[in-house]
Amino acid sequence: MESVRGTGTEEHSSKDALVLTSITKSFGGVRAVSSATLTVPVGERHALIGPNGAGKTTLFNIVTGELAADSGKIEILGIDITRSSVRERAKLGLGRTYQISQVFTNLTVEESLFLAAAAEQTMQFLNPWRKSAKVVNLAHEAAEQVHLTSYLQRRVSELSHGAQRQLEVGMAIAMRPRLIMLDEPAAGLSPFERLSLTKLIKSLPRSVTLILIEHDMDMVLDTADRITVLQHGAVIAEGIPAEIRTNQKVQEIYLGNFYA
Ligand SMILES: Nc1ncnc2c1ncn2[C@@H]1O[C@H](COP(=O)(O)OP(=O)(O)O)[C@@H](O)[C@H]1O
Ligand SMILES: [Mg+2]
Repeated sequence: MESVRGTGTEEHSSKDALVLTSITKSFGGVRAVSSATLTVPVGERHALIGPNGAGKTTLFNIVTGELAADSGKIEILGIDITRSSVRERAKLGLGRTYQISQVFTNLTVEESLFLAAAAEQTMQFLNPWRKSAKVVNLAHEAAEQVHLTSYLQRRVSELSHGAQRQLEVGMAIAMRPRLIMLDEPAAGLSPFERLSLTKLIKSLPRSVTLILIEHDMDMVLDTADRITVLQHGAVIAEGIPAEIRTNQKVQEIYLGNFYA
């Protein structure tokens, strides 16, 4: 695997944003993730699907560093991060979403984006977080990317569910990630909001690699370049949407529920 590192400001160049090799994780007697192997090239939009309890969220938490795998290897942009902290992973460009519905409802959209942008700056330069011109720029750019520019002064609590999801993605974007992971972003949204979120995801720059866990198959088939299917913690299929849609095994265990 190629990996080019500069000095000072580190620039990572690798054709793969994420490589998971034989990741295994058990909770007591339950094997939540079973020897899962996955490669996501830079710029790809990759969906992770599978029935409830398949191990999707556990796998995400292992990638972000909130959970430690029992065995296996995790590489981001060519760098082995298997034993790195959540913060070190974030510094390498791993983006995550916030549960804003609980924490940020009293802030405005702009303040929320400032907070995310300032967090990114703090990580990179160890400044105390403050509203520098850079932070304002990052925040406003993120607002534009998630179509919330005209909502900047609104309180988060006044936003619809759909707009709050847009803000979640915007906050992740404001941290300038190389790789963003979204866990069921369409959950609880109306059909119309799902469509907007689908459009938004498709409009994100290709410089950001995206991994999406989602049950909404229309959204998955519309946004994903490739899809990985998990069942009982193991990868049972992987391919482009057309292959996954017609895969017999996948239809039996999963898609059948949707198209029956
Ligand atoms: N913290 C935990 N403690 C014990 N069991 C867990 C924990 N998290 C997940 N599990 C179990 O691991 C399996 C996979 O769960 P999860 O990763 O949440 O699946 P998914 O996101 O695909 O629905 C399930 O059997 C679940 O009950
Ligand atoms: Mg889950």
